Amino acid sequence: MPAVTAHAPAKSILFGEHAVVYGRPAIAIPVFERQSTTYILANPRGQTGEVTIEAPNIGLNSSLGALDPSHPFRIAISRTQQAVGAASIPACHIRVVSTIPIASGLGSGASIAVSLARAFSLFLGHPLKDEQVSAIAFEVDKVYHGTPSGIDNSVIAFGKPIYFIKDQPFTLLAPASPLDFLIADTGVRSSTRKMVLGLRERWQQEHAKYDKFFEVIESIVVQARASIEEGDPGNLGDLMNQNHFLLQDLGVSHPMLDQLTETAVTAGALGAKLSGAGGGGNMIALVEPDRSDAVDAALRAAGAVEVIHTRVKAGKG
Ligand code: PMV
Repeated sequence: MPAVTAHAPAKSILFGEHAVVYGRPAIAIPVFERQSTTYILANPRGQTGEVTIEAPNIGLNSSLGALDPSHPFRIAISRTQQAVGAASIPACHIRVVSTIPIASGLGSGASIAVSLARAFSLFLGHPLKDEQVSAIAFEVDKVYHGTPSGIDNSVIAFGKPIYFIKDQPFTLLAPASPLDFLIADTGVRSSTRKMVLGLRERWQQEHAKYDKFFEVIESIVVQARASIEEGDPGNLGDLMNQNHFLLQDLGVSHPMLDQLTETAVTAGALGAKLSGAGGGGNMIALVEPDRSDAVDAALRAAGAVEVIHTRVKAGKG
């Protein structure tokens, strides 16, 4: 059996994070400048079922059987085996590498699960469809943060910008013109599970107040979709700023996220907001191409530990 390789991108949530957990729409984009890759090499001398797995980023080097049954890698592999209906696994070595920082809102867990499911199904001779790979990554994401909306696995498995509502088929977005973004890392790590649970507690105490915030976010996301599809980047930037202020109201921002979003806008970005669960992690800014280097420099000067430049192409991609 030959060696196989599969990749999956990172992602960034452009609008609607957190509210999406409560049934409101959200928009996410794939980020191909960071990715995870799974390599699988058959071991013709090994016995059936003898699987070793290595993930240097997290210092893992183990036999599959020695991993806890709730380990995300084990879940991804066993779900993939079930999905392709393979009775046994030929002896092999799996290597998982990723350039996506963990716990920073870029979907590293879902991306690794997607690359793993893709590579493993290919290795077993039955490459799974994007939607099957997405469903496996959703199961794995549940281990990371309990009640995921499903937006991460969807945008990463399909690798296209999406308009997403929980428990519904999503819509692929076709931007009228290319969109340039900078994604800046605060360097502050944050737990999605903790951020989502914290907001749930606040929501349980003051339903009406938080439901109102979610409703306003929904209207921003609907307008953002129109701005993307009609090619109105100025309005899109304004909507990002508004979404950021609402995320502050929800209590999921962080002083460093506020500082970087303000810096980006002052340096000429069309708009900026935190992206993902908040409490640290990354922010995203929409820029005109000729402002991109100046905004990048300002973000680094304000303390961003890394700045990724990414472009969303026009059309259905
Ligand atoms: O994985 P993160 O940090 O991008 O956060 C996911 C976005 C949330 O809306 C906060 C949670 C979810 O499941 O959609």
